[in-house]
Amino acid sequence: MTPGSETFRAYVVDRDGDRFLRGLRDLTAADLPEGDVDIRVEWSSVNYKDGLAATAEGKVARAYPLVPGIDLAGTVIRSGHPSFRPGQPVIAHGYDLGVSRHGGFAEAARVPAGWVVPMPPGLTAREAMAIGTAGFTAALSVSQLEARGLEPGMGPVLVTGATGGLGSTAISILAELGYEVWAATGKADEHDWLRSLGAVGFLGREELAAEGRPLESERWAAAIDAVGAATLPAILRTLKRGGAVAACGNASGPALTTTVFPFILRGTAILGIDSAYLPIAARRRIWERLATDLRPRALGERLTEVTLDTLEPALDAIRAGEARGRWIVKVGA
Ligand SMILES: NC(=O)c1ccc[n+]([C@@H]2O[C@H](COP(=O)([O-])OP(=O)(O)OC[C@H]3O[C@@H](n4cnc5c(N)ncnc54)[C@H](OP(=O)(O)O)[C@@H]3O)[C@@H](O)[C@H]2O)c1
Repeated sequence: MTPGSETFRAYVVDRDGDRFLRGLRDLTAADLPEGDVDIRVEWSSVNYKDGLAATAEGKVARAYPLVPGIDLAGTVIRSGHPSFRPGQPVIAHGYDLGVSRHGGFAEAARVPAGWVVPMPPGLTAREAMAIGTAGFTAALSVSQLEARGLEPGMGPVLVTGATGGLGSTAISILAELGYEVWAATGKADEHDWLRSLGAVGFLGREELAAEGRPLESERWAAAIDAVGAATLPAILRTLKRGGAVAACGNASGPALTTTVFPFILRGTAILGIDSAYLPIAARRRIWERLATDLRPRALGERLTEVTLDTLEPALDAIRAGEARGRWIVKVGA
């Protein structure tokens, strides 16, 4: 498909007065926004944010009509920028993609060159989308914790939302690096799978209760928290002295109830993780690491493959917290 007068298929969300509409449409290049690089989208993936964009109450979509899909991988068809050439395999994700400009759930996309990541050697488009924004955010979280001094041997690292895309990839990456990884999950029947990714200990969701003493026994050298309201307060109360939590998600809600004691009596820190607007140079470096030292164990396992025609149930399921691994979207050839 070359964007021109021909049509290409897209999954579109839209509003018509009070009605929220979603489904497949045919678009043309004239429907694409301004940008230097046209990409034939081969693979995309389903992220929690996409689930929210595909519902009337989601508060993610900032423009209508909108092609959701915060992730895409494919091949450059046209480039107005010297850094990219037709035929080059690339990734784009985050920034305004799938939020206020058309994203990855379409056979063609147009993006600014400053948002494009050359596909690192050693990764295919399918593998890149098996990682996707969820896995990228896991890798970014690990790199931020390392930058603050975390090393294997300093103690256990807790990952919450363990069966989700972000959590399961974080477990995989940490285990490959030699960390003692604990998983907090609401799905006890998935312990065997999480163990195969490298988790050595487990907590049930209920063990990370919202209520507790301001400080409790020191337990975690670090944590990666994809869940937010239901887990972040308990993590803060139990971080070891000098420990840090990468706060990257809000699967259970955005509220945060804490005291200042973990910070002023134990020197702990919350590291805010924002993958969407990470500057492009840092983004490209993280992708290079995802192809090498941060490559997740078992990349390509626990994937559910959908197409633009079968995407909708996956969008609803991820919003309902039913993720077990990742959904990837086969968009075009
Ligand atoms: N900061 C960033 O840049 C960034 C980037 C990507 C994603 N995120 C955020 O990170 C979070 C996870 O993303 P994801 O793609 O991994 O989503 P996901 O695949 O849906 O995973 C979320 C996991 O959280 C757990 N969970 C869901 N609802 C819960 C609840 N009510 N209470 C406690 N746990 C619950 C479930 O795991 P268990 O059943 O195993 O507990 C679920 O599988 C989302 O909030 C997403 O918006 C942030």
